[in-house]
Amino acid sequence: MAEQSLRASDSRELAVAIRDVHKSFRRGSESVEVLQGLALDVPYGEFLGLMGPSGSGKTTMLNLIAGLDVPTTGTVDVGGERISSMSEAELARWRTRSIGFIFQFYHLLPVMTAYENIELPLLLLPLTGAQRKQQVMTALDLVGLSNRMNHRPGQLSGGQQQRVGIARAIVTDPVLIVADEPTGDLDARSAEEILDLLGELQRSLEKTILLVTHDPRAAERADRVLHLDKGRLVDDAPVYTRSARTGGPAA
Ligand SMILES: Nc1ncnc2c1ncn2[C@@H]1O[C@H](COP(=O)(O)OP(=O)(O)OP(=O)(O)O)[C@@H](O)[C@H]1O
Ligand SMILES: [Mg+2]
Repeated sequence: MAEQSLRASDSRELAVAIRDVHKSFRRGSESVEVLQGLALDVPYGEFLGLMGPSGSGKTTMLNLIAGLDVPTTGTVDVGGERISSMSEAELARWRTRSIGFIFQFYHLLPVMTAYENIELPLLLLPLTGAQRKQQVMTALDLVGLSNRMNHRPGQLSGGQQQRVGIARAIVTDPVLIVADEPTGDLDARSAEEILDLLGELQRSLEKTILLVTHDPRAAERADRVLHLDKGRLVDDAPVYTRSARTGGPAA
């Protein structure tokens, strides 16, 4: 159980380590640099918030960390693996094992039940039917939806659909959970419930969570909040405080 302790500077202790990452996209004949030299360390078990204006590069950054895209230059290590050097096929396999995704609009398949939606990521892993069932039931229980497992998304409220989304994200026991505006489409009360649940994943399952949000109330739940502006991290407050929001980037 007790693993040999590692130095804090050892990247194996970090859930995420980003070094000098640049990301450019082509627009016609032009190349636009969307991320401009990012560096970031995220220790295991941290709940990290990421804020910034629309178009500042939040989703782009999240996609690089989640292995949905690769940087133009620089390195991205997640869970001790250098994902920025992986091939497309390696990345796809790695994502299935390592990342839980939570989306703003849930991305549930409408013809499937809550149970079947949550089971989907497990179908890509070498598990027996009994193992799959056990993991789905555990995830359903965790989000408090065991009694709705045979409902289709259309028969669930927005908050309940997002809880199914969270169960699907956690069912593979990923190293990292990434959430892009998970409360953006919810009323205040459902949003609170979803944030409570994310906090619970961090506390009881010791999950590392990366939350992109425009909502300061959501960001307040994070251990630390980073701000992206025009592709640069402009503020790396170690602990989020209300006063940090009152003025400019740095009080
Ligand atoms: N695949 C792509 N091809 C070209 N440009 C892209 C691509 N993806 C993102 N961009 C551009 O990169 C910039 C950052 O986009 P990104 O989606 O990361 O912003 P964001 O911070 O997530 O914004 P929002 O808060 O609106 O979701 C935008 O100018 C966008 O147009
Ligand atoms: Mg975005």
